[in-house]
Amino acid sequence: MKETNDWNANNYNKHADFVSILAAPVVKLLNPKKDEKILDLGCGDGTLAIDMEKVGAKIVAVDLSEDMVKKTNEKGIEAYVMSATKLIFQNEFDAVFSNAVLHWVKEPEIAIEKIYNSLKKDGRFIAEFGGYENIKHLIDAMQIVFDMHPEYGEFDNPWYFPTQEEYKQLLQNCGFEVTYIEIIPRPTKIDDISNWLNIFANGIVSHLTSEQQNNFNNEVREILKPIIYSQKDGWVVDYVRLRLRAEKRRLEIENRI
Ligand code: BEZ
Repeated sequence: MKETNDWNANNYNKHADFVSILAAPVVKLLNPKKDEKILDLGCGDGTLAIDMEKVGAKIVAVDLSEDMVKKTNEKGIEAYVMSATKLIFQNEFDAVFSNAVLHWVKEPEIAIEKIYNSLKKDGRFIAEFGGYENIKHLIDAMQIVFDMHPEYGEFDNPWYFPTQEEYKQLLQNCGFEVTYIEIIPRPTKIDDISNWLNIFANGIVSHLTSEQQNNFNNEVREILKPIIYSQKDGWVVDYVRLRLRAEKRRLEIENRI
């Protein structure tokens, strides 16, 4: 869930279905149970929400993309357009679950506070997202292309990839007990770097003409090809995951702030 809302669910489903396919370990860490009420923060097209409802949990899903929320609603899941920093829930959920979303949130303290407030006492927050040095090759290549073209302006990196120490501290500052946190390198096969750039990096070049955007994609691709492409494996992106479980031990945090 990024801070804009123009994701196209069909395009995402065609080229980025690996995001939910590779989420099995974090769903396992969540271990959803019958009758639990769970918030799926950044539900995408609802694929994981459906899996969680199959065990009898009640899922409320939110995402910034109207198209994704529509798709999730069509699958019978209660879903709303809402950002991580504007969650409106108070002491409602047994768990907050979030996959591949929180690296889009540049105000992590606010999101963590909203997540904390959404949970019931003893509720758990289970998340996985991009951790320190995630997609480093891609970011370096994008920076090089921006440097080559001063007319493109500054490269405005939209992502937040914290270390485990940094994120643990933020969680603890908010009152969470962090019971598990780990950085996990996970090289990830994708179909084609151009599709990845069109889906995930479109916001970075949205101020450019379509000719400049094509040029940007081609140049990033050329730089990356000798580094992350091989005949044998195709395109493999240097993903690094930050996976965590944190638990809410006290009720409100308003008293503390
Ligand atoms: C990620 O899941 O790590 C990711 C996805 C899109 C853009 C940046 C990072």
